[in-house]
Amino acid sequence: MSLLEVDDVVVQFGGVTAVDHASFTAEAGQVTGLIGPNGAGKTTCFNVISGLQRPTQGHVRLDGRDITRMPVHRRSKRGMGRTFQRLEAFGSLTVRENVQVALDIHRGLAGRLRTVGRPARRQRADIDALLERVGVAAYADDRADSVPTGAARLLELARCLAAEPTLLLLDEPSSGLDETETDDFGDLLRELAAEGTAIVMVEHDMDLVMGVCDTIRVLDFGEVIAIGDPAAIRSDPRVQQAYLGYSDETAPADGVDETPTTVLEVTR
Ligand SMILES: Nc1ncnc2c1ncn2[C@@H]1O[C@H](COP(=O)(O)OP(=O)(O)O)[C@@H](O)[C@H]1O
Ligand SMILES: [Mg+2]
Repeated sequence: MSLLEVDDVVVQFGGVTAVDHASFTAEAGQVTGLIGPNGAGKTTCFNVISGLQRPTQGHVRLDGRDITRMPVHRRSKRGMGRTFQRLEAFGSLTVRENVQVALDIHRGLAGRLRTVGRPARRQRADIDALLERVGVAAYADDRADSVPTGAARLLELARCLAAEPTLLLLDEPSSGLDETETDDFGDLLRELAAEGTAIVMVEHDMDLVMGVCDTIRVLDFGEVIAIGDPAAIRSDPRVQQAYLGYSDETAPADGVDETPTTVLEVTR
């Protein structure tokens, strides 16, 4: 059984079908990419999974349990963590304080027993280890609204990881990261997956997607048009069609140097 199952989900906004009978799964210990052109319905899928959007039709299951109508906070309690396209940290708090708040909320939610008797020093060490892990330790004492966008985005991830999620939903996590940060971020995702976390990532950086994902689902006009590993997705004519408006049959003439990877990158 898959950790996450999105089953025949439809989301309609008035006349717009944002998600059109989408079904896909995500597994523990794997990084699953969710890609597709702008407006394809990726964020709406995330909203349905995380409980911010009720689907018109269909079901979401977490670890076999139907959570379609479960409120957001109960999903977090059951191990779902999410970052947003828009940054959500508390600007007037320091980077460390932001993670502390997330940790306090999580430990509060997880039950008082876990925090009782836990020395403050230990808590501080946990926070600093997390900051170190995501690569923002250098900004620990800076106000969150004063750090570069890349660091702010990594702070989002640290806040999310404070809750020790078993399912991590990342919406365009690499935007604002420089090349080194993106590489480190990719390594961190692989580490988290190796520890058993299920990661679903919406992302436009195709090098990152192709480099870290075990498996990819492609959305176009709300429909899942392809599922496969990075190599299969790269060479799938429907995917190229969705991104660039042509398939292999109508591709530019011979001699035009366009590997499928480049094809996907062009659309960023
Ligand atoms: N709250 C909303 N009300 C109306 N239409 C929406 C809403 N959210 C998204 N949409 C529409 O649904 C489609 C999918 O959007 P979205 O899920 O944000 O796509 P993506 O994240 O893949 O870029 C788009 O056509 C978008 O305009
Ligand atoms: Mg989006």
